[in-house]
Amino acid sequence: MPVKLENVVPFGRTLEEYRRMLSLPEDLSGLRILGCGDGPASFNAEASRCGAEVISIDPLYQFSGEQILERFEASVPLVMDQVRASVERWNWSFHGGPDGLLRQRRKAIEGFLADYAQGKQEGRYLEASLPALDFEDGSFDLCLCSHFLFLYTEAFDEVFHLASLLEMLRLSSEVRVFPLLDLQHQRSRHLEPVIEALREAGYECAVEEVDYELQIGGNEMLRIWQATR
Ligand SMILES: C[S@@+](CC[C@H](N)C(=O)[O-])C[C@H]1O[C@@H](n2cnc3c(N)ncnc32)[C@H](O)[C@@H]1O
Repeated sequence: MPVKLENVVPFGRTLEEYRRMLSLPEDLSGLRILGCGDGPASFNAEASRCGAEVISIDPLYQFSGEQILERFEASVPLVMDQVRASVERWNWSFHGGPDGLLRQRRKAIEGFLADYAQGKQEGRYLEASLPALDFEDGSFDLCLCSHFLFLYTEAFDEVFHLASLLEMLRLSSEVRVFPLLDLQHQRSRHLEPVIEALREAGYECAVEEVDYELQIGGNEMLRIWQATR
């Protein structure tokens, strides 16, 4: 399936948001983490400073920092108009409202841009795309995906989802994905068939409540791990 970057909003989140969305441990030091589709999140920059060994992969990293910022700014009016037109469909306990949400997204991209050149040099930001990644088996302790799989249910089919998750499980003994809702705030129709296929393939899967909810009802992540763990 070809990359449909134009369908995917280049908005990023902070370490604080990643911690909550994906129930990350307090101490990240020494943890080898692969972030799939991290885009302009400040997660890599901040978690690296906390001692984690983070690699982020994203097709967006074919672009320069200036180009990524341009794509971000070009998306802001449309995304924020959509959010403001549907304020009652969001839980504002963390962001306070649409303005706070935009402030948080700007904070994330600023943190990302300040780290991008150095991170690229250090190999922490790699241009690559699910579902096929060029790492050795078991290269990571934890593989994360925030706001890509399941959210973009219409743009990426069930086969893509399953192939992506199996690839993440090849690289890491545990995978965590958030959210499980699609862009219409409905539980992704790929979720149940994908869980069934993963269980058939011998993996353990759990849908777990997390301490983050922006889309109302979207406070769950999928955790998948090797049954032998
Ligand atoms: C909405 S952003 C989420 C960014 C970040 N994970 C976060 O939650 O802050 C989705 C990201 O998925 C990336 N993406 C699109 N196609 C992809 C693919 N095939 N593999 C990995 N990432 C992809 C986009 O470039 C974009 O940066």
